[in-house]
Amino acid sequence: MLRGQSCATIRAMQKTKKTQANSASVTADTTKPRRARTTSKPISTDTAKPRPTVMRPAAPKPRSVKTPAKGFSAKDEAAKPRRIGTKMSRLLASNVAPVKPAIKPVAQAPRHEGSSAALTHWLLYCRPGFEQDCTQEAVGQARSQRPVLAEQPGIIPDSGYAIVAINEQTLSYRELIFARQLIRLHHIIEELPERDRLTPVLAAINELTGTFSEIWLEVPDTNDGKTLSAFTRRFGPLLETALRAQGRLLPVEVEAGRSDAAEAKKLPRLHIFFPDKSSALIGTSDPYNSASSLMGIVRQSMPAEAPSRSTLKLAEAIEVFLDKSEQTRLLRSGMTAVDLGAAPGGWSWQMVRRGIRVTAVDNGPMKGVLEKHPLVEHLKQDGFKFQPKKAVDWLLCDMVDKPAKVAELIGDWFVNGWCRHSIFNLKLPMKQRVTALDAALNGIRSRLDIEGISYKLIAKQLYHDREEITVFLSKTKNR
Ligand SMILES: C[S@@+](CC[C@H](N)C(=O)[O-])C[C@H]1O[C@@H](n2cnc3c(N)ncnc32)[C@H](O)[C@@H]1O
Repeated sequence: MLRGQSCATIRAMQKTKKTQANSASVTADTTKPRRARTTSKPISTDTAKPRPTVMRPAAPKPRSVKTPAKGFSAKDEAAKPRRIGTKMSRLLASNVAPVKPAIKPVAQAPRHEGSSAALTHWLLYCRPGFEQDCTQEAVGQARSQRPVLAEQPGIIPDSGYAIVAINEQTLSYRELIFARQLIRLHHIIEELPERDRLTPVLAAINELTGTFSEIWLEVPDTNDGKTLSAFTRRFGPLLETALRAQGRLLPVEVEAGRSDAAEAKKLPRLHIFFPDKSSALIGTSDPYNSASSLMGIVRQSMPAEAPSRSTLKLAEAIEVFLDKSEQTRLLRSGMTAVDLGAAPGGWSWQMVRRGIRVTAVDNGPMKGVLEKHPLVEHLKQDGFKFQPKKAVDWLLCDMVDKPAKVAELIGDWFVNGWCRHSIFNLKLPMKQRVTALDAALNGIRSRLDIEGISYKLIAKQLYHDREEITVFLSKTKNR
């Protein structure tokens, strides 16, 4: 039987993180165990003791969240994300029954009409440094669906992930800008023994029901996370073999594209996320409501001919926002594009390589192959004042300016019918990022709504985005 023990999960994870951060040895050797632990041993499949703690994530001890006496008036306060740093353990582990749900705080709180008071824990991956935005957005989305019995999100600054506990309701991955991945969290395992990580991980998986389409072993997108990759490469095959032997993973033949492959793809994916070597978070994702790439990252390699690394942003945006058939249909040779803030030409290059003619607007110089490209007309003009003589298929915009100003410009282009599709960047302000983005994107939405223009809008902070997000906006058929 799996044993729970109180409150130590994330604290332990964080202690490890601190130790790693303070240690000069955390640079290259990913396989060496830490000195504080026992001797260096490879990962083995033997079932050694001591038994680690497998924990069902429970709701936090609401230390700074007042339990509302009546009704549900404290929900907004409770839902506000905070940087609680090393106190994250409170968030997850107050009631550590082995595998049974532990929902103590909500059970104590007054129930909102129709609420079962059960909480769902979500594990979200994000760009390190954006944990606060990621959780604020997720809780905001949950709140927009119905009143939220949310707990303070668990945030470890710069960790590349966050955990939110909200009502038993589903978040929509597509609507989240900062979340790279959306995973329903089922178990937290702490103090994984160095000599046998497999047994406890398998034990936790055995508490879940059903079959999984695939298993992904993941780590945070941080320097510490990178040092774990060698470990996951060795551990992954061991775990996969064990799960296949138990019939918990799809048989290989189905994966290889036999007749029932489409059905099989609908099964949940299993995620084992290692914040560090001694803890694991076990969750599942819905293939229709999550990113379809490992760690939620769509990597791109730098094309030698492209004039700037910015080209990777647009390449990733095309992969993330358009499925294969949309890429073929919407990015055809002979189409036209305007690229505002085009220099030195990384985005324009993505267009011309597909045979699309580009008007590149920028006072700066186009470089490399784009300097004198037959498909490129370079205009040294102000992108905010430029107006096309004829409507184009695509508007690209990578000018660095306030999100509100860029959003207004994009709205103008769509309302005036100057383009059909657009990919543009919104640079993030230092503070109130979620609020500023909401205002900018809602500004565009309401203008298009007023004009009766049907559209599809998806916004994401992509892997190649830094202090910015990328937006895809496309006119769909008229109402
Ligand atoms: C981030 S860079 C664009 C990089 C480009 N997308 C690429 O792939 O190479 C931003 C560009 O916007 C241009 N820019 C900024 N404000 C502008 C404006 N008002 N009109 C035209 N270009 C502008 C800058 O000159 C700069 O070249």
